[in-house]
Amino acid sequence: MKNHSLSVDNYNKMHTSNLRPLNIKIDIDQFLSDIETINFQVWGDLHLEFPRYAFPLVNQDGKIKEDDPACYPLDRYNFIKKYPQFKMSPLSEEHVQSWRKYYSSIKIDDVINETFFSVPTEYLNKKSFDVLSPLKPYMLRSCILKWDYLGHFKKHVDTFHPTKWLRLWGTTSPDKMILRYEDNGIMVAEKNIEPGRLYLHDSIRPHEALAYDDNVYQFFIALNLNSINTLNTLFRE
Ligand SMILES: [Fe+2]
Repeated sequence: MKNHSLSVDNYNKMHTSNLRPLNIKIDIDQFLSDIETINFQVWGDLHLEFPRYAFPLVNQDGKIKEDDPACYPLDRYNFIKKYPQFKMSPLSEEHVQSWRKYYSSIKIDDVINETFFSVPTEYLNKKSFDVLSPLKPYMLRSCILKWDYLGHFKKHVDTFHPTKWLRLWGTTSPDKMILRYEDNGIMVAEKNIEPGRLYLHDSIRPHEALAYDDNVYQFFIALNLNSINTLNTLFRE
């Protein structure tokens, strides 16, 4: 499984749109009730002025803990592992140079990626996630994100060809956030996102997102490639 990856052709066959809807919808009222007592951790150690939080559904050991990499930008987490002196530190010249040096020499198989996370946490047992049952055996790094006003991700990609995992995405609040994908060099906003609906998300295509109100939750779910047969039975179209 570790070296199993998806060909570009097969990836494209599955990702027929940026957000391909699944026949899975999370009940938002149930979800909001389920998460009432859950503590969210801050997302990463940089840009803390932008309110971004998360809790894990699937992490490395099933335990709830501080600084869980399941709820941390993984590129940053990998960098901090090598350069712990820069954790929570401002972006000085030395910091930025080290970041550049690290990324220019990175070996993709040497860093922690989504496939390193496969143990469910107790939060995955919440009732609102019962609809994930067909996919639970295949889940990799997954969490629930909470953004308040101005929480965002700048334009990025999450993986490359040939990828070793797939990504589902959804939100409670498409009326309070924007998700854009690059199309011919222009960032274009997705329309008609249904609250609670899960989508296969084309995370190889550059994308960015921004919340313009508080309490915007996002379902951030990775799947291993053994999920493909099941996933193919779950597409809405
Ligand atoms: Fe992303």
